[in-house]
Amino acid sequence: MILVTGGAGFIGANFVLDWLAQSDEPVVNLDKLTYAGNLETLASLANNPKHVFVQGDIGDSALVDRLLAEHQPRAVLNFAAESHVDRSIHGPEDFVQTNVLGTFRLLESVRGYWGALPAEQKTAFRLLHVSTDEVYGSLSASDPAFTEENKYEPNSPYSASKAASDHLVRAWHHTYGLPVLTTNCSNNYGPFHFPEKLIPLMIVNAMAGKPLPVYGDGMQVRDWLYVKDHCSAIRRVLEAGRLGETYNVGGWNEKPNIEIVHTVCALLDQLRPRADGRSYKEQISFVTDRPGHDRRYAIDARKLERELGWKPAETFDSGIRKTVEWYLDNAAWVRNVQSGAYRDWVKKQYEAA
Ligand code: NAD
Ligand code: DAU
Repeated sequence: MILVTGGAGFIGANFVLDWLAQSDEPVVNLDKLTYAGNLETLASLANNPKHVFVQGDIGDSALVDRLLAEHQPRAVLNFAAESHVDRSIHGPEDFVQTNVLGTFRLLESVRGYWGALPAEQKTAFRLLHVSTDEVYGSLSASDPAFTEENKYEPNSPYSASKAASDHLVRAWHHTYGLPVLTTNCSNNYGPFHFPEKLIPLMIVNAMAGKPLPVYGDGMQVRDWLYVKDHCSAIRRVLEAGRLGETYNVGGWNEKPNIEIVHTVCALLDQLRPRADGRSYKEQISFVTDRPGHDRRYAIDARKLERELGWKPAETFDSGIRKTVEWYLDNAAWVRNVQSGAYRDWVKKQYEAA
């Protein structure tokens, strides 16, 4: 049994779906179901006894203590977080609450549970904390990619709250010996991505005939990884990562934002041409830049490749095509997110059961 937190969000849900497709080991999925949590993403697991969904907060110590005692997981994987940089700029408090205080409370619950385990289970136990490359700050065009040795220089409320959570995880290992692993990944994309983030927003707006808002000059660089490759990296780190270590995860796919938007438009031009025969690029609109916008991220994932033999399966070309096709094939999922109907899935699929 493993306990996954945030498993109704974009990456957590992809992880749970992949895990249960490959393994017989059950998953307890603890998710608060904020606006970003979507049980419709997990609809295919509604009758799967190996998936136990619990709506709740990682900061609810009584609940987490109870779940740990009841299910006796051999590992806890912490995906739960507030994840959107723009939201963190407009309302940072939720980010401190969940990413900092929530992680702290989760660590304390896990420490209590782990400390009382019999010797063999105690040795085997792992807490894997899922984090981001944004903790390292921003690179100039000539800087080498981030390695695990880069110092932390978080610039947004989001990245500062994630950096704080990483430090807490590190300290719980150093001080209490908690067996932890941390992964710092670059920008993910793929199925079930909430359409507030760049790639799904561009696909969804393009199809709706709306403007495609590109911040500033569009020359900010992000390093893109298909979400299933992030999931395989997490599985590998859980399996064989060295205790207390951090592992950068990335696929060597640096792209300026404007190139991403052009690629999405070109794929849509091919797969679902506009009725007027013109390109979706005509919908691009340059808008005011994000305050404090980091210029460039790039991940050096050689430690993970060298030590654990991990490699991504998708190239950017194959991953972005799959992603655009997924959004075209799953218009109902997008519609339910946009209308808010996805929230009814809790009642329909789980509370009724
Ligand atoms: P997301 O916003 O799509 O999902 C977050 C999930 O956590 C949601 O289901 C939400 O309901 C849940 N949640 C929020 N607060 C909670 C709380 N207090 N208790 C329990 N559940 C709570 O985020 P995502 O993009 O899937 O990111 C998952 C993790 O991966 C985050 O920790 C994020 O920092 C990290 N990460 C994301 C990316 C990326 O590109 N999306 C890249 C690197 C790392
Ligand atoms: O690097 C990993 C991080 O990637 C994760 O830790 C975060 O959780 C995740 O949200 C993501 O953060 P970004 O800020 O990089 O992602 P976002 O999709 O919000 O933006 C990607 C880039 O596109 C960024 O430079 C801002 C720009 N952008 C974004 C949106 C939503 C636009 O130009 N227009 C937009 O409308």
